[in-house]
Amino acid sequence: MQKVLAVDNDLFFLDFIRDLLAEAGYAVETAEDGLSALHVLESFTPDIMLVDLIMPNIDGKRLCKILRRMEHLNHTRIIILSAAAKEESIDAVALGVEKIIAKGPLQVMGENILTVLKQEAEPTAFSTAVEVLTADNIRERGITRELLSTKKHFELILERMTEGVLEITAGGKIVYANRVACLLTGLPEEKLLGLDFLQLFSLKDRLWVEKKMTEIRREEDGSMGEEILVLTKYLVIMDLLGIKGDEGKRIVILNDVTERKKLEESIIRSERLAATGQLAASIAHQINSPLQGITALLSVMKECGADDSDFSGNIRLLEGAFESIRETVRKLLDLNRPGQAEKQLVNIHEIIRDTVSLVGTHLRQADIKARLNFHKESIYLNASPQELAHVFLNLINNAVEAISAEKDRAMGKCGGEITIGTKQDKDLLVIEISDSGPGISEDNLNRIFDAFYTKKGNLGMGIGLAVCKSVIEKHGGAIEAIKKADCGATFRISLPLKK
Ligand SMILES: Nc1ncnc2c1ncn2[C@@H]1O[C@H](COP(=O)(O)OP(=O)(O)OP(=O)(O)O)[C@@H](O)[C@H]1O
Ligand SMILES: [Mg+2]
Repeated sequence: MQKVLAVDNDLFFLDFIRDLLAEAGYAVETAEDGLSALHVLESFTPDIMLVDLIMPNIDGKRLCKILRRMEHLNHTRIIILSAAAKEESIDAVALGVEKIIAKGPLQVMGENILTVLKQEAEPTAFSTAVEVLTADNIRERGITRELLSTKKHFELILERMTEGVLEITAGGKIVYANRVACLLTGLPEEKLLGLDFLQLFSLKDRLWVEKKMTEIRREEDGSMGEEILVLTKYLVIMDLLGIKGDEGKRIVILNDVTERKKLEESIIRSERLAATGQLAASIAHQINSPLQGITALLSVMKECGADDSDFSGNIRLLEGAFESIRETVRKLLDLNRPGQAEKQLVNIHEIIRDTVSLVGTHLRQADIKARLNFHKESIYLNASPQELAHVFLNLINNAVEAISAEKDRAMGKCGGEITIGTKQDKDLLVIEISDSGPGISEDNLNRIFDAFYTKKGNLGMGIGLAVCKSVIEKHGGAIEAIKKADCGATFRISLPLKK
């Protein structure tokens, strides 16, 4: 026995179809709108569906799109039954429907339906070409055409809106979703329609949204305030609009505030860091003066006690300890006023070469090769050589530390490589420093240039990259860490060659 599902919001019409088809020997189920049809389809797989076009709660066109994406309905024939078949241009191929029957006088339409269904009994004779079967005495109605055209205009605007728009029934089911709503929820239209609205949220947000929705009475508009809700990878705030006299339906407006929140957080973070940086620099300043006195005193004491080896040994230990304090103080001072050296015309390859030689012993001890991959000609730019050397030193040190830490973890996995390349790109000098270390995770990429951000615990202060960024920006350039598909980190510095 052939199974038919008829979907129409006209209950009189549904009764007519049920009687007509039951009498002709079909097993018939009915649904009053697209949403109920989806519910029926959970337990009933029809051979044929008769679908009305203009319906509340997921109209015929949307329903057809959803049906055509449901695998278990691959063999179900869809026939459109519409009172607006004359007024509305229907792209049957795009909708994936087999036939379109215009609603008209019951007897003629009944015959049309039975003819089409009989064709289905002989599949080979079933024409895949779409035809519109009309009742001869149907006239086109201007008012219907106008209403359909207005609907199309509104739909077009809704699709182009930058806010996400959802329509939900009194029972909380989603029956409309625009393009942005699909994007924000991370679900395609066919998955979103028919879904329980609250299911879009995590458990914590769900309870809050549910409470708010009961507080804001139906038919009233209400803002849910600035409460941030999480939708997949987006942060949104929400407004609820009640629709007067429409069975408790509501429109939900979703505003994407992801970028705004990120910006706010970064402003707060940088303000906090600036304050911390100033405080650190002023403390460093205070420490610096007595430190210089102590260092001078230590060298005097060393000379006086040169004959006593125990005494000299202790002085050397003290010197080492004070050297480490001085290094920390220097870094803290660098943070707020990174270098003051004068700019001059410098050969960038010379600076890089000198810096690499400076750390040569360090590299050899760590069994790391430095590869220089320079532009074929010398590149000159106006810059402070000390400050640039400081930048390269920081980046090389970081690379050595990253490779060594990785080696420690891999226990004896030997070797490592740091490549420094330069190239000229129009008016820009581009320097890339790559290493064969573990690379930088996505989370870290956003924060590594923040002052005091370190993953090295007590071994790092998190200042190196903040100083590099400040120096490079002072030279009118930019520095970024690049995430590569393969392992290792790459830092790219771009500096303008013209003044
Ligand atoms: N080449 C790299 N490979 C992997 N991670 C890196 C690399 N360079 C920097 N990082 C990450 O960035 C963080 C910040 O680096 P930064 O140089 O600012 O501070 P630090 O090295 O931790 O301390 P210090 O102030 O002594 O330089 C590091 O803790 C590390 O997690
Ligand atoms: Mg560092």
